[in-house]
Amino acid sequence: MTKRKLDRFAENETFEHFFQPNYYELSKGFALKGKWKKDFFGNDNPVVLELGCGKGEFTVGLAQRYPQKNFIGVDIKGARMWRGAKTALEENLKNVAFVRTRIQLIEHFFTSGEVSEIWITFPDPQPQKPRIRKRLTSPGFLDRYRKICSRNCIIHLKTDNTMFFDYTLETIKDQNLPLYFHTYDVDKNPGSDDVVTINTYYEMLFREQGEKIKYLRFGLFGEGVGE
Ligand SMILES: C[S@@+](CC[C@H](N)C(=O)[O-])C[C@H]1O[C@@H](n2cnc3c(N)ncnc32)[C@H](O)[C@@H]1O
Repeated sequence: MTKRKLDRFAENETFEHFFQPNYYELSKGFALKGKWKKDFFGNDNPVVLELGCGKGEFTVGLAQRYPQKNFIGVDIKGARMWRGAKTALEENLKNVAFVRTRIQLIEHFFTSGEVSEIWITFPDPQPQKPRIRKRLTSPGFLDRYRKICSRNCIIHLKTDNTMFFDYTLETIKDQNLPLYFHTYDVDKNPGSDDVVTINTYYEMLFREQGEKIKYLRFGLFGEGVGE
């Protein structure tokens, strides 16, 4: 492991807005579960997650734009997350936190109804058949999100990957969920200002390769109304 990575891991340990409990700590119960608003953010504002946040540009960008919401970036790669955590500290953003964990364990961190919105930004497409269940919009993951989300929670997906995008559209249809918006090219039809004005690290890489950026948003509950 490089010294830079080790330094970042060490600095993550010092951040008060960076959480990375181990399995033993989680098994005893995560202290902020059900208490993020009151005990960490000190307000009653909605909690928004970015899953697979990488360097956290989107989490930090939204937090700057929406001080009346609380944002939590989630990823397993601590050295990447350090970037977002450091920026949030440098910019004195009080409405940002980061959780380092496998998203498979997300129910250990939030209680029923605690999350109001989820962004999934440029997820790994997991193209191989045996790995379909690892896609962050697969039925197994949607079930996990239902356990922590409010009834009117909105899930946003941004991706360059057409296969992943179509897979998600099919899953929404199969589950008869409300699809509120979708576009195969955000530059022609963005659907919301946030979608085009905050670019993540991977988004920039894919844009350089000439990929079109796709975006959709949907609900986790109820009948397939929308669009
Ligand atoms: C392609 S990167 C995108 C990062 C960032 N959203 C961006 O757009 O620059 C996908 C990220 O998802 C994270 N990830 C994928 N599956 C995960 C899982 N099951 N649990 C936690 N993180 C995961 C990876 O560690 C990686 O940082």
